Amino acid sequence: MTGINEFQNNTDIRSMTIDSLVQHIGETVTLKGWLHQKRGSKGLFFMVLRDGTGMVQCVVNQGKVDATSWDNASSTTQESSLIVTGEILKDERQIGGIEIQASQIEVFQIVKDYPITPKSHGIDFLMDHRHLWLRSRRPWAIMRVRNRIIMSIHNFFQERGFLQMDAPLLTKNAVEGTSTLFEIDYFGSSAYLTQSGQLHGEVMAMAFNKIYTFGPVFRAEKSKTRRHLTEFWMIEPEMAFYDLDMNMTLAEDFLIRIASDAIEDCHEELDLLGRDLDWLRRVQPPFPRITYTDAVELLHSDQTQVMVQKHIEQLQQERSDLEQERTANRQNYGQLKEWKKRRIDAREIEINIRMDQIDEELRNLPQWGKSAEQFEWGGDFGGSDETLLTWHFDRPIIVHRYPESVKAFYMKRDPEDDRLALGMDILAPEGFGEIIGGGQRADDLTFLEEQVQRHRLPQDAFEWYFDLRRYGTVPHSGFGLGLERTVAWICGLEHIREAIPFPRMLGRLSP
Ligand code: 4AD
Ligand code: MG
Repeated sequence: MTGINEFQNNTDIRSMTIDSLVQHIGETVTLKGWLHQKRGSKGLFFMVLRDGTGMVQCVVNQGKVDATSWDNASSTTQESSLIVTGEILKDERQIGGIEIQASQIEVFQIVKDYPITPKSHGIDFLMDHRHLWLRSRRPWAIMRVRNRIIMSIHNFFQERGFLQMDAPLLTKNAVEGTSTLFEIDYFGSSAYLTQSGQLHGEVMAMAFNKIYTFGPVFRAEKSKTRRHLTEFWMIEPEMAFYDLDMNMTLAEDFLIRIASDAIEDCHEELDLLGRDLDWLRRVQPPFPRITYTDAVELLHSDQTQVMVQKHIEQLQQERSDLEQERTANRQNYGQLKEWKKRRIDAREIEINIRMDQIDEELRNLPQWGKSAEQFEWGGDFGGSDETLLTWHFDRPIIVHRYPESVKAFYMKRDPEDDRLALGMDILAPEGFGEIIGGGQRADDLTFLEEQVQRHRLPQDAFEWYFDLRRYGTVPHSGFGLGLERTVAWICGLEHIREAIPFPRMLGRLSP
């Protein structure tokens, strides 16, 4: 085996990453990466190399490489690290439309027993091996979409003159209720990990007009759902002189931008994830704006029950189609070529995962229908209520004017109806549910002091926040977008845990 420092010989051959190969067809280049998979024998190997920027197939002909290179090619295993030198050839049938005709293979390390094989692994196993799983194709696609979304977010706000500012993560104040606070010892007194940058965001909006924060926030969520993390990233714009309507319009434009940028720039990734782009193409104005009260009526409607029934039938149909496909795939399996077997194995994993999801949904749906029917005005929507609501629409919906009892202390009341808060949530379609929460802020000092008292929050910890209402108070609004929920929605992920490199959830703190 060669040492890393000995690769100084090919000085006139350009080292490249896989994502830039297409522009250099015909050139001979050097690629550094890891072996994703390999097939072949008898003088010929097809090695799929990945380098993090993409994958490319490298053809190794025994007759066209030196003996050491051939030995290296023969002994490489999954995730072995290596250097491939070769010519870039055009080949439409291959990944990325190109192929490398290898002339030299050098090795950093030959790997023994990489834990994640192409065979089926349960989700817990994969999560325990997240540090390695991140190298696989699915996380590759998801993390690239995540990165694109982050770029869209900054571009959107920067183009509109918002200042990106940072709220502290260590605080003395609860923002979103005291039940989900992580408490820490701060030199002998207690402090909290922030649940939201909003209160400091309001301060910064009074100083800089339009700002947004983009940082991690923490929620001690005891619930084990597919939508909850204990550490996640939130984007929180806060705007002076914005009322609820202006806030909703900004949020709508914002989501449209995120979706259209993803469609434009993430074909390969979304295609790999099997995302139905029509859903994203329909993210167009205007988003339906419905009041909480109308939403409750919708939950109570016969239409909702009909929809639940229709959904059950669709799922049953999908399940039986999948079962048929699986049976068909298993016939003649023994006679198939290795690579075909592998493709069928991979498909079987997909089928099994989807069937588990379908079974779970089929178990839950009747209960969802019942709780929608029995939903009482004044309560907060559960995950299933949100899911059913979004099924009525083909694009994100904005639900506004919630009962003040289910919203945070800082919300302004509706001047038309004191039972209501001027809050709004945006629910993503296809059952993804809430991705944005926000509203217009209370701007009256006396009212806000009463609210802090009523919510049993410590007055003195909020004095600085009250100062905003003492010194030049103005109407203002803002919202928070959950990054991981947005990534899950854009990518069409069943569970939020795949939307962040290292998820933190109830029962998961490692790797
Ligand atoms: O609705 P939330 O709790 O609103 C706030 O924190 C406001 N202070 C935001 C503001 O007005 N500046 O959270 C906002 C968003 C949710 O809509 C959701 O997308 C995401 O944050 N979120 C979570 N994401 C993952 N895991 C959790 N446990 C989440 N809780 C909220
Ligand atoms: Mg919320």
